[in-house]
Amino acid sequence: MKKIAMLGSGFIARFYADSLQGYRNRDKIVSIYSRREETAQKFAADYFVQHWTTTMEEAVAHPEVEVVCIALPNFLHEEAVMLCCKHRKAAIITKPLGRNAAEAKRMLDAAEGAGIFNGYLEDLVYTPKFLKALQSVNSGSIGNVIWAKSRETHPGPHSEWFWDMEKAGGGCIIDLGCHCVEIARNYIGKDIKPMEVMCWAATQVKPIEAEDHAIGLVRYENGAIGQFEVSWTFRGGLDLRDEVMGTEGTIWTNNFLRTGFEMYSSGKAADYVAEKAENNTGWLFPVGDELNELGYNHMFMDMFNAMESGQQPRETFYDGYIVNAILDAAYRSAKTKHWEPVQLEVWRGKVGLHEDSHLVDYDADHYLVKEEVTHYGAKKLILKNKHTGKIIEKLIA
Ligand SMILES: NC(=O)c1ccc[n+]([C@@H]2O[C@H](COP(=O)([O-])OP(=O)(O)OC[C@H]3O[C@@H](n4cnc5c(N)ncnc54)[C@H](O)[C@@H]3O)[C@@H](O)[C@H]2O)c1
Repeated sequence: MKKIAMLGSGFIARFYADSLQGYRNRDKIVSIYSRREETAQKFAADYFVQHWTTTMEEAVAHPEVEVVCIALPNFLHEEAVMLCCKHRKAAIITKPLGRNAAEAKRMLDAAEGAGIFNGYLEDLVYTPKFLKALQSVNSGSIGNVIWAKSRETHPGPHSEWFWDMEKAGGGCIIDLGCHCVEIARNYIGKDIKPMEVMCWAATQVKPIEAEDHAIGLVRYENGAIGQFEVSWTFRGGLDLRDEVMGTEGTIWTNNFLRTGFEMYSSGKAADYVAEKAENNTGWLFPVGDELNELGYNHMFMDMFNAMESGQQPRETFYDGYIVNAILDAAYRSAKTKHWEPVQLEVWRGKVGLHEDSHLVDYDADHYLVKEEVTHYGAKKLILKNKHTGKIIEKLIA
């Protein structure tokens, strides 16, 4: 059993608390910090937390607390991590790690310097669908991954600080792109170095300084491409979809808007449908168990199992730092409109890789381009001569 201080009592803190304590779990929140007395007290009452405070350090330093779960707005992440280091408490933190890579690097250095357990709460690489898909990728079922696209779009966030560029560190790229980048990184291989980023971003709809819509490409050293599509202007709910293309197969996942649960309601008794759902009448696409579908349960299981066995979790502050560095390059590219290098002060993966060659030999003189069976019964091979480069067709019986 681990005793936890929850920092923040808002949207994500409540999802985390529901996951941590919702299934007769062993782990227990023993202290809650919130900015205002009434919200701290309400959270304490809802989750049976014995101690509440409006002073962040008091929660971290509380003698019973072993693990600090940081669920605060982005601009408070660094302060919270530094307190965990000061009081030598294990720290698990929501996404993004920092508002930028410099902030993330300071947190990484401080946590590793203090020798504290550090976990990065990137829930979307822990969804049951994702874990199963990743297992298939790792066992070679779809060959080499050459493109991994992740999309997260919704009609915009739920609290004022997200819309303030200084407090959030940016718009939908930092808020949602962090999920997409880490999803693609997992599929492509976390030991494959991200090299450069090309990104388009714009403020198309909202009256804000930050971007409300963006698309980016991340090129990895082995030639694979990660793609992110993010928006705060998308209408129709929370769209979380991934596509992975490998040399031997394909994966498509729809994580939220279509989970296999469809319902029609005239609106007689209007219920909560799912996160960011825009309506609760007509045809609806509810989510059966958001905590599970969004990966929170498996994420905390990995974090606490790792803590108890003295291992690193699957996602650490180092991963959060790499994500921030990729997003920094995306912001630079959106301005310069050029490919921008990913500037990494620390890299612990492979180096010196070349773009993978996926050419398939047909015989000593030819590569196989494609096999085709047509609607009129022909079977043919398209081949390329290795010496002359000529493309030919060969009909087979
Ligand atoms: N899927 C996810 O992983 C996910 C989803 C949503 C939010 N988040 C992250 O969680 C963090 C918190 O987001 P949220 O959605 O819970 O926000 P929120 O606004 O709902 O809650 C923020 C909490 O921080 C507290 N707080 C303390 N000082 C504050 C201050 N000066 N200004 C504003 N709030 C202050 C508030 O009282 C509140 O309890 C952010 O880093 C966000 O990116 C992650």
